[in-house]
Amino acid sequence: MKKITVMGLGYIGLPTAITLAGAGYEVCGFDVTERVVESLKGGKIHIVEPGLQEAFDQAVAGGHLHFSSELSPSDVFYIAVPTPFFEDASGAHKADLRFVESAGRMAGKVLRPDDLVILESTVPPRTTEMLARVLGEESGIPQGEIHVAHCPERVIPGNMMYELKNNDRIVGARTPEAAQMAKEIYEHVLDKGVVRVTDDITAEMCKLTENTFRDVNIAYANELSVICDKMGIDVFELIKLANCHPRVNILTPGVGVGGHCIAVDPWFIYEQFPEEAKVIHASRLRNENKPRFVAEKVLSSLRDPKKDLVAVLGLSYKPDVDDLRESPSIELCNILRDKGVNFIACEPFAPYGEVHGIQNVPFEEALSRADYVVVTLGHSLFQENRDKIAAKPFFDCVGMME
Ligand SMILES: NC(=O)c1ccc[n+]([C@@H]2O[C@H](COP(=O)([O-])OP(=O)(O)OC[C@H]3O[C@@H](n4cnc5c(N)ncnc54)[C@H](O)[C@@H]3O)[C@@H](O)[C@H]2O)c1
Repeated sequence: MKKITVMGLGYIGLPTAITLAGAGYEVCGFDVTERVVESLKGGKIHIVEPGLQEAFDQAVAGGHLHFSSELSPSDVFYIAVPTPFFEDASGAHKADLRFVESAGRMAGKVLRPDDLVILESTVPPRTTEMLARVLGEESGIPQGEIHVAHCPERVIPGNMMYELKNNDRIVGARTPEAAQMAKEIYEHVLDKGVVRVTDDITAEMCKLTENTFRDVNIAYANELSVICDKMGIDVFELIKLANCHPRVNILTPGVGVGGHCIAVDPWFIYEQFPEEAKVIHASRLRNENKPRFVAEKVLSSLRDPKKDLVAVLGLSYKPDVDDLRESPSIELCNILRDKGVNFIACEPFAPYGEVHGIQNVPFEEALSRADYVVVTLGHSLFQENRDKIAAKPFFDCVGMME
């Protein structure tokens, strides 16, 4: 039985480690953030995901799952570290690969010739090649003999424990041995999903292509919402009617696009192909500009823009998750603040008090204090209280009140 070390215990790494342990592997979870390792050692998960705490308890009780802040030798290393972007001095979006490189250097220090390294993080083309180089530099093993595969994670928060075992997996390997070893592990873990083997660059591009597909399609929906607003017609009714056509499936407009994936990954393509990626770029800008449109809409709807209190319902990036990364609702709040609008927010998945400089209050308080409500997300709590929201003047970004 193989020993697997999962490097990075966040939204992806932790559920992955739990799933691998549940499949019978000896799993060590490793993270550079001491607080994360301590919390997990103490039996408490630090992220919100349905069924995760129960699966965690089971895996720990089964004796196959341990946590450490020291990296030790292992047959297999999974790398699931962040891959954000940053804006350089000219404002261009660049992939920040420092976490991947540092994880690679750490793994390289304990790597043995027959070990396998699987990169699960979402990365720009040729990052797996860079990882192989770094592993070679640190381990002294010739680069061509290092077994590395890129197997991008494709789960959706909120349904991870199911999708980890049932989604198809792409194995983009740099050696035939890496392809075989990675395929065996994923096939052992998967219930329904199928493992599809390709090269590392195609696998990198595959994940970016999937998320960019979503971004472009949401941009179309967001563009329609702006056009419909000018026309004075209901975009949600329009999309519902258009989607009756058998070959049309328009996504739902929103306050923008957020999260660590869809709002980030298209930039990885654009960064390398700025001349070619015209639609991708325009879509990204369309989605990035949507919070500004919503802010203008709110401002023009207030009776007294200097006095009215606006309640923004939802700060995370999608319903019923706690992830605030790249959240367009937070961007909306920042724009409202710049425009001098008084506002509070209600994000039930974040602690009440101050969140990113925004006053976050419980739902009842938000509604009782608000003169105007903006629905940015269809959290279950908001859906269950549609009647109460409808009693106030509101702007619905997502069609929840339809
Ligand atoms: N969150 C999602 O829904 C999702 C879905 C599919 C793919 N992904 C991709 O998965 C990757 C991880 O995303 P996430 O959401 O899990 O990130 P996260 O921020 O939730 O977790 C990453 C963890 O990695 C740790 N870390 C950083 N450097 C490390 C190192 N050198 N060694 C060990 N640990 C280290 C951090 O402390 C953190 O706990 C990203 O590339 C992301 O694009 C995310």
